[in-house]
Amino acid sequence: MTKWDQKYRAGYGASGTPEPALIQPIANIAPGAALDLACGRGRNAVYLASRGWAVTALDSSQVAIDELPGTIDARCIDLESPDFQIAPHTYDLICDCNYLHRPLFPQIRAGLKASGLFVAVIPMIDDDPAVTPMNPAYLCKPGEIESLFADWEIIYTTEHKPTRNPSGRRIAELIARKPEPERGWPTRDPSRRRVAELIARKPRPERGWLW
Ligand SMILES: C[S@@+](CC[C@H](N)C(=O)[O-])C[C@H]1O[C@@H](n2cnc3c(N)ncnc32)[C@H](O)[C@@H]1O
Repeated sequence: MTKWDQKYRAGYGASGTPEPALIQPIANIAPGAALDLACGRGRNAVYLASRGWAVTALDSSQVAIDELPGTIDARCIDLESPDFQIAPHTYDLICDCNYLHRPLFPQIRAGLKASGLFVAVIPMIDDDPAVTPMNPAYLCKPGEIESLFADWEIIYTTEHKPTRNPSGRRIAELIARKPEPERGWPTRDPSRRRVAELIARKPRPERGWLW
């Protein structure tokens, strides 16, 4: 039994309240395919499913996964295994709450469809002596998460002490939208750019009333 299995058996995370950062961005969009990374007991996966999303929820704790309802595609998976891969261009929303494994970020970027949303709530390095020490490998640095999505539309970003627990660890929250692929001319695709250049060079008929 893993450390997290033991925690869940002992009642960790039983409240089931969804992450506030997730509620607002999905309030006014049509549901689609969602991926909840390190879903734990599934408070966010269950909320998304209740709003009509088709949810895939992944976690390495079998105890947690066994609690998720059958409406969710819940799977016990080690997200840190080299074999794990997020299917590219598959999800309309990916959420990653209270779990940091940096090699997943390129996969998260690729796994979202154009206009898809990434919702992250990641614990931060915090030198407040009241905060329980934690392995810094699992904590993000100031500005780190936002900088990974700097080329996306940043809908919301903040770094702060949790409002409900001022003596808790600082968290970074990010809601970012993947851009649509570039449209129109000139294009960045070299083969299409060549066609664009040829069209641009073609002599145009003299301007007349039909042109
Ligand atoms: C703090 S909990 C967060 C749970 C949930 N995202 C939430 O915010 O309620 C961290 C979760 O990460 C999961 N986890 C840790 N290492 C993992 C790994 N290598 N692969 C998959 N899940 C992992 C744990 O089982 C645990 O459920």
